Amino acid sequence: MSDKLNQMQDVDGELARKEKPEREVNEQQIHTFKQVLGASHTKWWDVRGFVPETDMATTAKRVSASLKEADATVAVHETEVDAFSEIGDESVRIMAEKGIREAAVLLRAGETVAFPTETVYGLGADARSTKAVEAVFAAKGRPSDNPLIVHISDPVQLNGMVAKINDTARVLMDAFWPGPLTLVLPAVPQALSPRVTAGLDTVGVRMPDHPIALRLITESGCPLAAPSANRSGRPSPTLAQHVQEDLEGRIGGILDGGPTGVGLESTVVQAGDDGTVTILRPGGVTAEQLAAVARAVTLDPALAAASPGEDANSPAPRSPGMKYTHYAPRGRLSVVQGPSPAGVAGWIRAALAEARARGERTAVLAFDEHAASYAGERVYSLGKRDALHEAAQRLYGVLRRCDEDGVTYILSEACPSSGLGDAVMNRLLKAAGHRIIRL
Ligand code: TXA
Ligand code: MG
Repeated sequence: MSDKLNQMQDVDGELARKEKPEREVNEQQIHTFKQVLGASHTKWWDVRGFVPETDMATTAKRVSASLKEADATVAVHETEVDAFSEIGDESVRIMAEKGIREAAVLLRAGETVAFPTETVYGLGADARSTKAVEAVFAAKGRPSDNPLIVHISDPVQLNGMVAKINDTARVLMDAFWPGPLTLVLPAVPQALSPRVTAGLDTVGVRMPDHPIALRLITESGCPLAAPSANRSGRPSPTLAQHVQEDLEGRIGGILDGGPTGVGLESTVVQAGDDGTVTILRPGGVTAEQLAAVARAVTLDPALAAASPGEDANSPAPRSPGMKYTHYAPRGRLSVVQGPSPAGVAGWIRAALAEARARGERTAVLAFDEHAASYAGERVYSLGKRDALHEAAQRLYGVLRRCDEDGVTYILSEACPSSGLGDAVMNRLLKAAGHRIIRL
């Protein structure tokens, strides 16, 4: 990216010399120039071609088998092409390796780097360095009393970082790591920067299930404190381009690993000594999945207080994660919940028509099964209602689209509360400032 910018500066310089040879450089131009230079501080690595070692061994075997076959007979043209295209991919893979190594060097130097995880993009920094962690808070504009999740690539890294891992926590790690589950564990004092835990005596830790994240953590040798890589209050990023929109020029670099998988953040839990699990934030691992391995699963009461059924007049939620308005699109979003899809669709259509009549630019967030009911409306799809992982993957992108399209009034169908639906509804309600219309 910096190379690209250097080229642009060369071209600009050339033009300036040819067309306006005697032009003087004024304050405004210096300011603009500095802004361009500022933007160039964020490096961009395309690491979508990264192949983890386990996959590489398989590919290498396949390629060598294909080549042997190709030697043996002339009738295997297609196999040969396959083999050569895989070898062609080799340069892409090597570039990806190089990108991750460069990003790791930045992290070791105390800089911030955004990277893909299986949930959303994270903004990583060495969790042991207060200066590095402060740069994360500054880039995001994040309130300093909201603690960060520490990302590890091997449970061995917990030694010296957490004081105790009870049996419940061990069972959860075995079942869900690597994966979208964050465990809140007692912290060893001074092992990490106090800014990571925001003064708490616990630390949230997770091992992400993404080959690029895992390699980056291992390569850097740092436990990585990483909140979602968005400006505070914006939807979490599910594409590297979302990170760029929010943080270009404010962070050291961005590893582009393509779209993330789950699309919503990890589930944050506390594991009790008695085998019970408390969900502090619903996410990629569902309550049902937790219940399959835990003695009992409960929802943090503070979170329940902000769950569906509350309206805009309900008291402010007390849980730390819930007290800020997250994910909010610029337009006014409300969630509509009712006993029949036809009833909900009818109400939404009428409300959108009314809003348009008073000059609003309107949109509806709807499941595919009901899309036909909104003919003529601006519809953003939440995917299929019976495949809620699609809503999870799409939600944040859709909220960003609402802003891009300048929508001012948005109504969303409610999400069924099973499986990933809990997490989707939790984020949807946050985005709606807890405005829910119950029919
Ligand atoms: O999927 C994810 O978890 C993503 C990716 C990047 O890993 N990260 C993420 O981080 O969502 P962030 O900072 O956006 O959300 C962290 C949440 C916050 O709600 C925070 O309050 C909570 O985890 N948290 C962190 N440490 C905690 C602790 N010690 N006790 C209670 N809650 C904690
Ligand atoms: Mg976040």
